[in-house]
Amino acid sequence: MKITLIASISTVLATACVQGIGAVAQGFEPPDFNVFQALLDKGVDITSLPQLSNPTGGHGNGSCSQACGVLELLYGSSDVLSRQSSAYDGFTSSYWSAQQGAVDPCCVFKPSTALQVSIVVLIARLTQCPFVVKGGGHAAFAGASSIEDGITISMERLNRIVVSPDRNVSDIGPGNHWVDVYSTLEKQNLTVIGGRISGVGVPGLILGGGISFFSNKYGWACDNVASYEVVTASGAIVTASSTSYPDLYWALRGGGNNFGIVTNFKLHTYAQGLMWGGQRIALNESFPAVLDAIHNFAITYSDQDPDAAQIVSFGYTEGCGALAAIQIEYAKPISNASVFNEINAIPAVQSTTGIHTLSELTIMMNEGIVYGARETYWGVSFKVNRELFTYLVDTFYKFLPRIIDAKGLLPVISIQVITEGQLKGMQKNGGNALGLEPAGGPYFIMNMGSNWNETADDARILEFNAKVIGLVKEKAKQLRADNDFIYMNYASQFQDVVAGYGAENKAKLIEVSKKYDPTGVFQILQPGYFKLEGAPNSTVP
Ligand SMILES: Cc1cc2nc3c(=O)[nH]c(=O)nc-3n(C[C@H](O)[C@H](O)[C@H](O)COP(=O)(O)OP(=O)(O)OC[C@H]3O[C@@H](n4cnc5c(N)ncnc54)[C@H](O)[C@@H]3O)c2cc1C
Ligand SMILES: *[C@@H]1O[C@H](CO)[C@@H](O)[C@H](O)[C@H]1NC(C)=O
Ligand SMILES: *[C@@H]1O[C@H](CO)[C@@H](O)[C@H](O)[C@H]1NC(C)=O
Ligand SMILES: *[C@@H]1O[C@H](CO)[C@@H](O)[C@H](O)[C@H]1NC(C)=O
Ligand SMILES: *[C@@H]1O[C@H](CO)[C@@H](O)[C@H](O)[C@H]1NC(C)=O
Ligand SMILES: *[C@@H]1O[C@H](CO)[C@@H](O)[C@H](O)[C@H]1NC(C)=O
Ligand SMILES: *[C@@H]1O[C@H](CO)[C@@H](O)[C@H](O)[C@H]1NC(C)=O
Ligand SMILES: *[C@@H]1O[C@H](CO)[C@@H](O)[C@H](O)[C@H]1NC(C)=O
Repeated sequence: MKITLIASISTVLATACVQGIGAVAQGFEPPDFNVFQALLDKGVDITSLPQLSNPTGGHGNGSCSQACGVLELLYGSSDVLSRQSSAYDGFTSSYWSAQQGAVDPCCVFKPSTALQVSIVVLIARLTQCPFVVKGGGHAAFAGASSIEDGITISMERLNRIVVSPDRNVSDIGPGNHWVDVYSTLEKQNLTVIGGRISGVGVPGLILGGGISFFSNKYGWACDNVASYEVVTASGAIVTASSTSYPDLYWALRGGGNNFGIVTNFKLHTYAQGLMWGGQRIALNESFPAVLDAIHNFAITYSDQDPDAAQIVSFGYTEGCGALAAIQIEYAKPISNASVFNEINAIPAVQSTTGIHTLSELTIMMNEGIVYGARETYWGVSFKVNRELFTYLVDTFYKFLPRIIDAKGLLPVISIQVITEGQLKGMQKNGGNALGLEPAGGPYFIMNMGSNWNETADDARILEFNAKVIGLVKEKAKQLRADNDFIYMNYASQFQDVVAGYGAENKAKLIEVSKKYDPTGVFQILQPGYFKLEGAPNSTVP
């Protein structure tokens, strides 16, 4: 059986197998690991399943129709959606971006337990059918949480939200969206560190880092995970924490989907009542004042008040022209805290700031976010530099005429400061995998994003984003404000995220991958999103 399997897999995977044997010496997946036996140990007897009596191996429809057939036999058609079902169309149209929605898997599997996740990983290995995991489905580019002709493993049924009796930690399933997590915990005056927009999913946000309203006080979402329950390449269900598989725990804090499928996040839980926040809209005549305010917040005010948060986006709409959307939040129910004096002094044509629950704020912030349009997101980081702020805003508006007539266009460039408080929070538990140190800060992430309607405009919109980013990176070098970190959760398919974590962290991540996944299941058989080596698409527009 083993020989059949090895004979049928591609050369690249075979190479990974050979390399893996060295790593096995470290003892996670035994050299004689047998997928059939592993399935048998989990109560799945392959020999009794006609679909699998003769696995063909290799990628594509043949092997996946076998895999999907077995899943359907085991779990039934309400848990395994096939192309013919109407639920299948409902599923593919539920992604945030149109590009992801246009991808058609061989089937969609909705596991309800970690054991079922483990079994699907083993079935994918056995048949060599490629797979992907879908959480909240907010990643922008095709293939990130979707897969043509493969198995899409949807997390939606793993949706528990349970606070521990001592209220210190909460079990949060990867099937949740942040608004459900917050509105449940709010009833107990508690919160966890997660996303700022209601509909975004829990797992993708945490695995890539996760910027929260409370990050200036506690660090990013990944810095506030007490432990992960994770299904590894061999189908093992393990708990990774600072004391159990600490290397895997480190890798999961920023390493994305490269190490396993997370079936539960145990999140540190904090007291939280009402808070303050909202959005102020400023006109382009105020842009210099807005950029001053971001700069002063970054270098002075944010460090003085850990309760404060801010992200500022510059955009353009046909009706209003160039606008800045200043989103500010404060963790306590105090209006106009003095940390925001400079920002509040800038005239706003519209303001929604007020006292709310966290869940209400995430719903407010979701208003105006388009679902089902074509999307692109790009992220780069720099050292905070006032001159660079002006340059990036000017460059964005200078090149905007190239795409301005695209139907349904909403183009945005955002400045998200990585404050000193965030950087300090990242050092908890021995630090995360992102490679950011307080000594070099503060930094900021420049996040560009556009949504639009027609495929005919794809190429020029991607080119516009690549052009502006290229120019800003050049300028940053001149100003000695350049920085390697790329934020996975905002990155495009053309960016090499893991390289941006620094050579040392990249090497460490590869080592962890080889230890827990010696045959490269999460590198090769799960090809989507940001892998350890290289950008998803190396042809930069
Ligand atoms: C409107 C909007 C608002 C946003 N706001 C914020 C914000 O406030 N802060 C912030 O930091 N980021 C934010 N982001 C970025 C966001 O963090 C990413 O888009 C993130 O990937 C979304 O997670 P998801 O689960 O919804 O995505 P998905 O597309 O489902 O997943 C993203 C990646 O994670 C993998 N994955 C999913 N579940 C698992 C799992 N259980 N185990 C292993 N891998 C898994 C997927 O395979 C995929 O590769 C926002 C994005 C959007 C579109
Ligand atoms: C897989 O099957 C689908 C539906 O039958 C078909 O559209 C697609 O082209 C096939 N893909 C491959 C790679 O053969
Ligand atoms: C719970 O949190 C409190 C305060 O952070 C801490 O003192 C206590 O030790 C924690 N309890 C457990 C069981 O971790
Ligand atoms: C939450 O806080 C409010 C306001 O302080 C208080 O009235 C309420 O009793 C608290 N609820 C719980 C469950 O502790
Ligand atoms: C501000 O925007 C308006 C309308 O788009 C434009 O006419 C004006 O020139 C802009 N002003 C500046 C200072 O950029
Ligand atoms: C907060 O400041 C804004 C102006 O910046 C003002 O309109 C509003 O009334 C203030 N709110 C409170 C409660 O002071
Ligand atoms: C873009 O698409 C959205 C949603 O499908 C639609 O409401 C809008 O009118 C479209 N805009 C243009 C300019 O075509
Ligand atoms: C990679 O991106 C280019 C545009 O830069 C595009 O033409 C090409 O189709 C993409 N490749 C894949 C495999 O998606």
